[in-house]
Amino acid sequence: MNPQERKARSRIYLMCPPEHFAVEYAINPWMDTSAPVDTELALKQWQLLRETLVRLGHAVHVLPPEPGLPDMVYAANGAFSVDGVVYGARFRYPQRAAEATAHRAFYEAARSWRFVEPAEINEGEGDFAYLPAAYGGLILAGYGFRTAPAAHAEAQEALGRPAISLRLVDPRFYHLDVALAALDDGNIVYYPGAFSDASQAILRQLFPSAVIADEEDALAFGLNLVSDGRNVVLNSAASGLAAKLRAAGYAPVPVELSELKKGGGSVKCCIAELRP
Ligand code: ARG
Repeated sequence: MNPQERKARSRIYLMCPPEHFAVEYAINPWMDTSAPVDTELALKQWQLLRETLVRLGHAVHVLPPEPGLPDMVYAANGAFSVDGVVYGARFRYPQRAAEATAHRAFYEAARSWRFVEPAEINEGEGDFAYLPAAYGGLILAGYGFRTAPAAHAEAQEALGRPAISLRLVDPRFYHLDVALAALDDGNIVYYPGAFSDASQAILRQLFPSAVIADEEDALAFGLNLVSDGRNVVLNSAASGLAAKLRAAGYAPVPVELSELKKGGGSVKCCIAELRP
């Protein structure tokens, strides 16, 4: 398909600046508490990411960062919304638990959302993706490291859309959003090796036209991307994946986020999509 046929849809995002970003604990294989972190550089890279989204025509809300929550920059983990309903997060590790409260306060202040408090452990868009035009609206849900499988049923019930459970098997790809991303309303890109054999078969069945990424793309955090249907904002280190996306008719927009990789995240981790 040629790029002119891929249509962008403008989005509303939520981001949180890495003012208090640090690697003070290690809860995923990317985090090394002995490696120095340049918070200034993290902030600069974050600002460029935010400006990129605005330049592409999207709205970006900013969540005030809180001291003592060094991972709060990964705003994707704070909730998951579909059609005005917000399914709240409940973090696996106590170090991040308070982030869920900050996100909840954001949605409640806006008043237009219906907020559903979760009973099950789930890390928001870290483990949930939404495809509005696939099968009438489909939730893809990851488990294996963070989100509890029971949260998939809870999200399905809260949001009224079928949730497909996908099992993650490689600890380097501990969240769904480092292994799979929505490219537009109906199509995805993913790295098969991050999933169990059965989950790979399910993805092949549901998404025969998916873009397939390889291990190198995934290790460069290329799958941790944000797409508006045409423009695909992704880590600049993932040049191989950028070429595959271009060949599939999308327009890759590389951004440098090297500092935030030290916490185990990239573009998508820093951005929650709000679906009013
Ligand atoms: N240090 C964070 C954690 O391990 C990184 C979260 C990345 N976020 C994401 N959506 N994958 O929880």
